[in-house]
Amino acid sequence: MIGVKTLDDADVKGKRVLVRVDLNVPTENGRVTDRTRIERVLPTIREIADAGGRVILLAHFGRPKGGRSEKDSLKPIAAAVAEDLGRPVAFAEDCVGEPAERAVAAMKDGDVLLLENTRFHPEEEKNDPGFAQKLASLGDLYVNDAFSAAHRAHASTEGVAHLLPSYAGRTMEAELDALSKGLENPQHPVVAIVGGAKVSTKIDLLENLVARVDALVIGGGMANTFLHAIDIGVGKSLCERDLAPTAQRILDRAKETGCAILLPVDAVVSAEFKAGAPHHAYGIDAIPSDGMILDVGSQSVDRINAAIDDARTVVWNGPLGAFEIAPFDQGTVAAARHAAERTKAGKLVSVAGGGDTVAALNHAGVAEAFSYVSTAGGAFLEWLEGKKLPGVEALKTGR
Ligand code: 3PG
Ligand code: MG
Repeated sequence: MIGVKTLDDADVKGKRVLVRVDLNVPTENGRVTDRTRIERVLPTIREIADAGGRVILLAHFGRPKGGRSEKDSLKPIAAAVAEDLGRPVAFAEDCVGEPAERAVAAMKDGDVLLLENTRFHPEEEKNDPGFAQKLASLGDLYVNDAFSAAHRAHASTEGVAHLLPSYAGRTMEAELDALSKGLENPQHPVVAIVGGAKVSTKIDLLENLVARVDALVIGGGMANTFLHAIDIGVGKSLCERDLAPTAQRILDRAKETGCAILLPVDAVVSAEFKAGAPHHAYGIDAIPSDGMILDVGSQSVDRINAAIDDARTVVWNGPLGAFEIAPFDQGTVAAARHAAERTKAGKLVSVAGGGDTVAALNHAGVAEAFSYVSTAGGAFLEWLEGKKLPGVEALKTGR
């Protein structure tokens, strides 16, 4: 169904297995503040190690631009992985050359090793064939478990897949399966819920969605641009006025494809962007000229929830309001909880991902209840745009 080989097809016993993972986790003063991405790759590591494979982890961290830097070292992350894995994780000071070769040569079956940040070498992001070859020489097999880095055509995400027998890890497999159920082969009706601040970052995504889904809910700051495009005054709200023609084009396209568009019918408005700021709800054609729209109103939430009730599949990206400051989180929280309930009741497949979305669903306390929540940011957006992801394509066409 997902069109790639998985660990089911791999014989890892006694083999050196290069496993590309995404350990690009948020940190503060060297401490990991959200371990989700680490937790997601543990099943693949355990499975390979338990089957007698030698697990060599390849990963990037931050954007060091091809040079070494203390702050982008993966060394502290090796300790965090070891902690969560409950087993030792060795570390090599470089991902290629003598330090890497020595560390790999010292491994026994079932051992786990993390190599230093692949992005310390400029050849990584250039997908340099010679560098990919150096990485490949460290392993017998390649497993990619980093969907969230699969939109990058880098040596460790793409190049190596052509040089070694290649497989999707368990998290990659789950991600591809969930995304297939969400948009490629979904059960209709499909409702997409798209929020976030700006239309400008999501034009391709919206154009792809109106061609594929049955209804599109538009919320967050980006809804204001659409409202402005259809001559609704949005006061001092965030609004990309120059993108009105783009918004109009998307609305026209939705008419052609028969995709229902749900824009807010009411809004929670305040004079300032501040937690607890005084606020009022207004009908969408009565937004005060000195006010700022900070959330969808309760009638809008009712309409969104009704659309969720009619749907068999929901794809969600981006919050519906300024969810990071109370009480402007209420629209997002209410709709997210509703989608979670429908999912728990077995009525809905719900797939969410991208940037703030995971934080918003965690805030609503419902991330666990969704069918699948992707930890991918850019890769999830590119997938919603209908683009092919190089890291995934390489698994399909690679060795
Ligand atoms: C991410 O954090 O989204 C991935 O790890 C990819 O990182 P990048 O955006 O720096 O390529
Ligand atoms: Mg990123």
